[in-house]
Amino acid sequence: MSYQIAIDGPAGAGKSTIAKKVAKQKEFIYVDTGAMYRAMAYYLFSNHVDPENEALVAEKCIGADITIQYEKGEQVVLLNGENVNAFLRTEEVGNMASYTSRNPKVRERLTALQKELASKNNVVMDGRDIGTCVLPGADVKVYLTASAQVRAKRRFDELTAKGEICDLQKIEEDIIKRDEQDMNREIAPLKQAEDAVLIDSSSMTIEEVVKKILALCR
Ligand code: DC
Repeated sequence: MSYQIAIDGPAGAGKSTIAKKVAKQKEFIYVDTGAMYRAMAYYLFSNHVDPENEALVAEKCIGADITIQYEKGEQVVLLNGENVNAFLRTEEVGNMASYTSRNPKVRERLTALQKELASKNNVVMDGRDIGTCVLPGADVKVYLTASAQVRAKRRFDELTAKGEICDLQKIEEDIIKRDEQDMNREIAPLKQAEDAVLIDSSSMTIEEVVKKILALCR
């Protein structure tokens, strides 16, 4: 039986940074499910599919073969055999993913892949519906959050460090809009699982959060 650590929470809560560190310590694989939804959004966008056209999204998403590989411990997302990591981290693709991830067909395809990965490997998996839908029997479940203001500032610093020019106010607005969309969709909305431990990282360091999660595993 594989060991499963599920980390859910809103955009910019630090899930991927924390999950990567926990995975390294535990020597588990890290599965970034948001990257899969982003790859799907990128595919639909590249094929000029109108994200509001639910039937068309359902039809076209079948053409996206999304798989995951690990190179030097890093997750590589392959979209129809091509490494698309470089295209996934923009705010535009993230917002689009929040939109297209509402589609039941999209979720069905990606959830099946996520379940399969977790059945064969010890995993730290992060996303929105991991503790509630993808891995309801996970050994450890965490709901990681922080105030919208703190999350926006972190995203702003991350983008600025990469040399991107961005507007803090706009990032905060986008984050609030994305939370709203992710929490209020019909299928697998973002919510804390009943048996998840809530961690508010607003005034915690990365190391403190990692330590807390590792303690939960013991
Ligand atoms: O975690 P992220 O910002 O990379 O996720 C991008 C979007 O993908 C997010 O706004 C909603 C969607 N998503 C989802 O619906 N379910 C998941 N398990 C992960 C992400």
